[in-house]
Amino acid sequence: MDLKHDTVLITGGTSGIGLEMAEQLSAEGNTVIVTGRDEARLQRVRDSHPRLRAYRVDVTELASVQSLRDRVVADFPGLNVLINNAGLMQNISFPEAPAEGVADEVAVNLAGPILVTQVFLPHLLRQSASAIVNVTSGIAYFAFDKAPVYSASKLGLHSCTQTLRRQLRGRSVEVYELAPPRTTKPMFSGSEADNREVDRIPKMPVADVVSIMISGMRKRRYEILPGMSKMLRLMGKARL
Ligand SMILES: NC(=O)c1ccc[n+]([C@@H]2O[C@H](COP(=O)([O-])OP(=O)(O)OC[C@H]3O[C@@H](n4cnc5c(N)ncnc54)[C@H](OP(=O)(O)O)[C@@H]3O)[C@@H](O)[C@H]2O)c1
Repeated sequence: MDLKHDTVLITGGTSGIGLEMAEQLSAEGNTVIVTGRDEARLQRVRDSHPRLRAYRVDVTELASVQSLRDRVVADFPGLNVLINNAGLMQNISFPEAPAEGVADEVAVNLAGPILVTQVFLPHLLRQSASAIVNVTSGIAYFAFDKAPVYSASKLGLHSCTQTLRRQLRGRSVEVYELAPPRTTKPMFSGSEADNREVDRIPKMPVADVVSIMISGMRKRRYEILPGMSKMLRLMGKARL
């Protein structure tokens, strides 16, 4: 992937790592489309980043993903890179957690990318060179006790990424995994108190994670594990 003249769709590109990917990839000459559920956040991206295109989607709903595919493919027939970045992380203690919402990370972080990939795959297979990037996490490999469902969902996505890569061997679609370590973007979705609890864990600047992803893809490194993620993967293997 030269990532200079490509057309890239990023799920969850209205903040954090996804927005940084959009900014860097757009600055490198690519056409970039970001997505999210919240229309106000999408409009803020359109206003502040006129070069980016922003579309609404909920990655957990088949009809919403199909409608996104229809709109994006009509507007950007050259779409050739899909980045499954939308994610959610909750602080869950099983003895206290209510059943409502406890499995949300499985829907957003695991079922979501599977659904989006499946809906966009026929289009990507028609391109002469294309790529799918699944964003997992360093704590896919070494389960984090404060986020057990998150870690499990990301380990599941890691596994799916490996099998998708094997199934697509010899086809036009390359399959990448980016496993960021803890970054300067707070980990837990929407909870300052939860994020303060984990403040001692070192943070990698989001911009560094994204530039490592871009250079890794240019070198065809299919598993991109910046910073601490490499160590977490080794520690996870030792724990098993
Ligand atoms: N932050 C870290 O330190 C860290 C570390 C390792 C891995 N990661 C992974 O990196 C990715 C990005 O993380 P982040 O912290 O940068 O995320 P973030 O800033 O919290 O942004 C999440 C994005 O996902 C979108 N989103 C959430 N649920 C969605 C749904 N059902 N359908 C469509 N879009 C949805 C959000 O938009 P709406 O709210 O508008 O839907 C938002 O654009 C995630 O997969 C995360 O697990 C993050």
